[in-house]
Amino acid sequence: MITKKVEDSMAEQVQIVTPQYLNGSKRMFGGQLMKWIDIVAAVVARRHAGTDVTTASVDTLQFRKPAYRNDTVVLKGYMTAAFNTSMEVCVEAYKEHFSGERTLINKAYLVLIAIDENDKPVPVPKLEITNEFERQNYDDALKRYQIRRMH
Ligand SMILES: CC(C)(COP(=O)(O)OP(=O)(O)OC[C@H]1O[C@@H](n2cnc3c(N)ncnc32)[C@H](O)[C@@H]1OP(=O)(O)O)[C@@H](O)C(=O)NCCC(=O)NCCS
Repeated sequence: MITKKVEDSMAEQVQIVTPQYLNGSKRMFGGQLMKWIDIVAAVVARRHAGTDVTTASVDTLQFRKPAYRNDTVVLKGYMTAAFNTSMEVCVEAYKEHFSGERTLINKAYLVLIAIDENDKPVPVPKLEITNEFERQNYDDALKRYQIRRMH
């Protein structure tokens, strides 16, 4: 069985909040951030699966702080767990200050499914856990997976 590490699929995207991304309150439009999150998660999952993927669900999307015009936004995505055909990816979004300091503005957990050319789910590589942070993420993801399956 093929295994991959978390570091094999991590992805980062950096954006500047330009005027077309603002809502009527001059804050960044939440739907735009959700689009960037979905893209980062898809890249992480594609790298892990080695196939195309589709988003099945988005859990606990939390908007913690606003972003405004001209802010630098950094999105970091990484695998938390790989099951049979599904993968859970965490995407953290930060506002990066000119000092380089980062403030967490959003954290989301997405489930993506590896699919073949007929859109049918296909097995994914196992996730090799290499440290305590990844172990904790995996254990938490497993609980969420079990809850989702109950629903
Ligand atoms: C996601 C999808 C491919 C699953 O197909 P399916 O035939 O229901 O697949 P299965 O029941 O065999 O489940 C396959 C895996 O998906 C997971 N899954 C299915 N629906 C899920 C959901 N709503 N949330 C989380 N995981 C889900 C299952 O737990 C299973 O995971 P596992 O293999 O790791 O145990 C199908 O429901 C689909 O195409 N949905 C639309 C996705 C889409 O268009 N996304 C873009 C949003 S616009």
